[in-house]
Amino acid sequence: MSTDAVGGTLDNDGWKNMWDKGETDFHQSTFDRFLDLRKAELLGENRSVFLPLCGKTLDIIWFYNHGFKVSGVEIAELAVQQFFSENNIECKVESLQTVPGKLYKSIDNKIQLYVADMFEMTPELCGQFDIIWDSKAFVAINRSDRQKYINTLVSLMKKEGRYYLASIDYDPAVWPGPPHSCPDKVIVSNYSGRFNIEILKDADEVMKQKPETREETPVQKHEYDTIQSAFQASSYLLFRWYKMTLK
Ligand SMILES: C[S@@+](CC[C@H](N)C(=O)[O-])C[C@H]1O[C@@H](n2cnc3c(N)ncnc32)[C@H](O)[C@@H]1O
Repeated sequence: MSTDAVGGTLDNDGWKNMWDKGETDFHQSTFDRFLDLRKAELLGENRSVFLPLCGKTLDIIWFYNHGFKVSGVEIAELAVQQFFSENNIECKVESLQTVPGKLYKSIDNKIQLYVADMFEMTPELCGQFDIIWDSKAFVAINRSDRQKYINTLVSLMKKEGRYYLASIDYDPAVWPGPPHSCPDKVIVSNYSGRFNIEILKDADEVMKQKPETREETPVQKHEYDTIQSAFQASSYLLFRWYKMTLK
């Protein structure tokens, strides 16, 4: 990903622009390996899942193929169109009545992707879910929107639901975000008011070990053009999953 980000923020037009220009290096050509790793606990009675900021992730396909009703929200219509066309899934489209946007649905209604602003999502609009699947979503949100984002997701979760979150931890001096570096303390400080948090260290992907005494020093300027070169320059790089339930 190169970035239009200024000082680590990106607005909705900025994200749409990136899709238009094909600057979507965050998109992976397969589903997250964590899905198979945690398959036993993901399956079972829970059958609805919501993916905030879903892009065209193939995680949607994994859930769909495992019998879930899958919903997601994505601001860039192009991403949602590409999701259906690239996966050869026929879809129908309708306009949303209460908020600006559209709903793309598979013919069997089991995939429902909202082209809308995440912050417009309400239980009245899209329902409540057994599982929230937050992959590259919280880390993409502007820092100033984090509490609003969490409040929105809490409203979309069933009381007994589970929230899975993938985070990334790297030296914030090399890149202003998105994705923002979100070490444990950022996750805990943002989520612990509403959630019980389990850190799933067995699922860690440690690319470069973090020094014990590293200070977190976010910067407004960065010297790397792409996130790949910034990650190479970071002295540490860790991908970690968290599992949360409502308090
Ligand atoms: C880092 S990408 C991750 C996409 C996807 N989760 C994945 O793993 O490939 C973040 C996505 O969020 C979308 N997005 C950003 N802000 C949004 C908002 N306020 N509402 C809905 N989608 C948003 C962007 O267009 C982008 O596709």
